Amino acid sequence: MYFKKSIIALTGLFLCVFLIVHLSANSILVLPEDVARDMYNSYSTTLRESPLIKIVAYVLYLSIILHAIYALLITINNRKAKSKGYTMNRFKENSSWTSQNMGLLGITILIFIVVHLANFWARIKLGMGEGVDLDSKGHVDVYEVTYSLFQNGYYVIFYSLLMIPLGLHLHHGLKSAFMTLGFYHKKGLKILAKVSLVYAAIMTVGFGIIPIIVFFK
Ligand code: HEM
Repeated sequence: MYFKKSIIALTGLFLCVFLIVHLSANSILVLPEDVARDMYNSYSTTLRESPLIKIVAYVLYLSIILHAIYALLITINNRKAKSKGYTMNRFKENSSWTSQNMGLLGITILIFIVVHLANFWARIKLGMGEGVDLDSKGHVDVYEVTYSLFQNGYYVIFYSLLMIPLGLHLHHGLKSAFMTLGFYHKKGLKILAKVSLVYAAIMTVGFGIIPIIVFFK
């Protein structure tokens, strides 16, 4: 059990770091178009052409898969234990709605990631779906792919709304990951709770507001 929890914690922390980098890069999208297009496309091309980033990307895909599989295994285990009456504590009274529903929140995020990868990754990296434009340097115009997606109001609502379950999941997940890895310092835990809250709020508001700003650009 501890091994599974540690894998969830380690992969989760890695995904948290990825989200910081991903949000920083996507913040370029809120800049005026003449600056944003070149910056976003150069950043995206540099990433796609770097051999080191390719390795990091494989670690990222593996982390998402391991995180989801082990979380699913633990959720099934917990449900079995609960139905057999093994849980001694008053589970519902002792834990928050978020901590009881991490599985549900995780599945919602997984659905988001599948749609998101179909929107971007499959089009940009695999060339699937509608043809993609090339920028002035002959590279895939990732800015245009993003801009045109967020001209569709349904996608804007989908992306912005699903950042709420993401935030709830991150808020509980970040704290839990450190605790699973043995972080139990009393004062430190209070600081950790605040850091998790601020981190989750920045991710929800940051990722949630970008599609809205791009829509109205
Ligand atoms: C405003 C919101 C977002 C925008 C505009 C956005 C944009 C993008 C783009 C353009 C790519 C393709 C990059 C490339 O190959 O050049 C991408 C990849 C990806 N995004 Fe997002 N993203 C957003 C939010 C998120 C969120 C919230 C998550 C996770 C919960 C996420 C997870 C990923 C993953 C896992 C990849 C694949 C990474 C890779 O292969 O390099 N994204 N995103």
